[in-house]
Amino acid sequence: MTHLLHLDASARPGLAGKDAHGSHSRNLSQRFVSQWLTRRPHDSLTYRDIGQNRPSYINHDWIASAFTPDERREPWMQDALAESDQLVDELIASDVLVIGTPFYNFGMPAQLKAWVDQVVRLNRTVGIDETRLPDPYLPLLGDRPRHAVILTARGGIGFGPGGEMAHMNHLEPNLVTALNFIGITRIHQIAIEGQETGGEVLAASVTQAQQQVDALVAELQSAVAETAPALVSSAQTEPA
Ligand SMILES: Cc1cc2nc3c(=O)[nH]c(=O)nc-3n(C[C@H](O)[C@H](O)[C@H](O)COP(=O)(O)O)c2cc1C
Repeated sequence: MTHLLHLDASARPGLAGKDAHGSHSRNLSQRFVSQWLTRRPHDSLTYRDIGQNRPSYINHDWIASAFTPDERREPWMQDALAESDQLVDELIASDVLVIGTPFYNFGMPAQLKAWVDQVVRLNRTVGIDETRLPDPYLPLLGDRPRHAVILTARGGIGFGPGGEMAHMNHLEPNLVTALNFIGITRIHQIAIEGQETGGEVLAASVTQAQQQVDALVAELQSAVAETAPALVSSAQTEPA
């Protein structure tokens, strides 16, 4: 059985095309998950709407607790890390992480960054071996072949890999770096562009992204159906 962890980070709760001012990234993530579960109904799902219920921002108590060895933690420190532990548990339990996210001001929305800050955790998702300088970090989620699917929507165009505006896109590059850092290296990206332009530019991008989602569900399902899913390519997909 495969377990999906589905996050939606858009501040807009509705769905584009259905609700006024609805979200395009939610449409993509819901399409991915509903297709997945229709074809593999015995797989399981954890859903978090971090766009509507954002994870807490880390604070002094969180940092003091996370960097105190487990055996020396006081009860208040366990409390300070309870939310983080829950989010880390959910990530560790997942085989496929599906992130629907908007592109805000050239990067990820604050609610998604809050989630990232909660799940990059010393000795839970990343270890440190100080004898291995200058790169002492040991990703801990490489224990099995997890996949991450980043489904985003942008107002402008040309922000994808190779695009004229790609150098101003710090969303997917930041997420990929953070996920790689903790050991999730099979990462797939699909984007809708042109939300602000609208018209045919947006319509064509939506159609292309939907086709890419459908193809990616099929690709990943055949991967997990095999006994050696690690052999599957992590080719990235992106609208032209
Ligand atoms: C606060 C805010 C900042 C945004 N910044 C950018 C941006 O830097 N570049 C861009 O192309 N679009 C930007 N947009 C447009 C969004 O990426 C676009 O509306 C996208 O569809 C949002 O995803 P959603 O439809 O899932 O909510 C911004 C939108 C908002 C609300």
